[in-house]
Amino acid sequence: MQTSHITVSLETASIMPTYRWNTDLAARAYDASAEHIHPHYVEIQDQILLQLRKLPTGPLLIVDAGGGSGRLMERILDHFPNADGLLLDQSEPYLALAEERLNHFGSRACVTQTRLQNPWNQHLLRPANAIVSMSAIHHLDQNEKQSLYARCYDYLAPAGILLNGDEIRPESDTQYSAELQLWSEHMTHNLKSGQIAPGFKAIIDKWRHRNIDQFGAIRKSGEDCHETVATQLDYLGIAGFSRAEATWQNSLWALMTAQKPAG
Ligand SMILES: C[S@@+](CC[C@H](N)C(=O)[O-])C[C@H]1O[C@@H](n2cnc3c(N)ncnc32)[C@H](O)[C@@H]1O
Repeated sequence: MQTSHITVSLETASIMPTYRWNTDLAARAYDASAEHIHPHYVEIQDQILLQLRKLPTGPLLIVDAGGGSGRLMERILDHFPNADGLLLDQSEPYLALAEERLNHFGSRACVTQTRLQNPWNQHLLRPANAIVSMSAIHHLDQNEKQSLYARCYDYLAPAGILLNGDEIRPESDTQYSAELQLWSEHMTHNLKSGQIAPGFKAIIDKWRHRNIDQFGAIRKSGEDCHETVATQLDYLGIAGFSRAEATWQNSLWALMTAQKPAG
């Protein structure tokens, strides 16, 4: 692995500077407050670590797709001394935080700027044993998710696993709308109590406008393109994964776990 540094890949030109995740303020505020913004932030990380324990004990390559400031990757590299980690994200401010956080792992950690829509296997020195992701893939539209799952299948070693701990939508509109409302109240409460950094207020306001005021509107790539667990398990099956299931689920979140056949 290369020493931890930001590799700015050729697709940088297609990365949107105005995208809400691409400001210093958003990256720093999310990094500082993630467990108060996301009601199951630590629990989903714990569930991902639990699944990773099923991997063999030899040298591992674990990729975090949309890994942000590296909070999950830090826990992975701490728990699995036999693993190298590659963190992918499109946001330079998030990657700067990730680089700082993961620097002490030296050559075990690498962070790279890329969009998940692109063929990021150019950054893999060998097939990955696991691809993990948290709160990132729901920003891809239906077609982009399907092609990403297919590419993850291709980039995994035999018996490799994909673990996507992400926002999902319940089947019924009534439940979906009620769960969005509950999350909005959770964030408003934690903002008022000071647990969420004030820099995140504008992002929450826009989130509420798109998801609650405009409930039911067509979502485009980059927005919150929530899909049901059943739909995404279908995508994973079509991509070739032999076992795809939700190994954890609560409200607007699920951990979708899929395994590539051993050979
Ligand atoms: C809510 S943050 C989550 C960060 C991190 N996974 C965590 O759980 O702390 C969403 C992350 O997804 C990244 N992201 C969103 N769309 C992306 C895309 N198309 N390609 C790569 N990264 C993307 C953002 O830059 C941001 O870092």
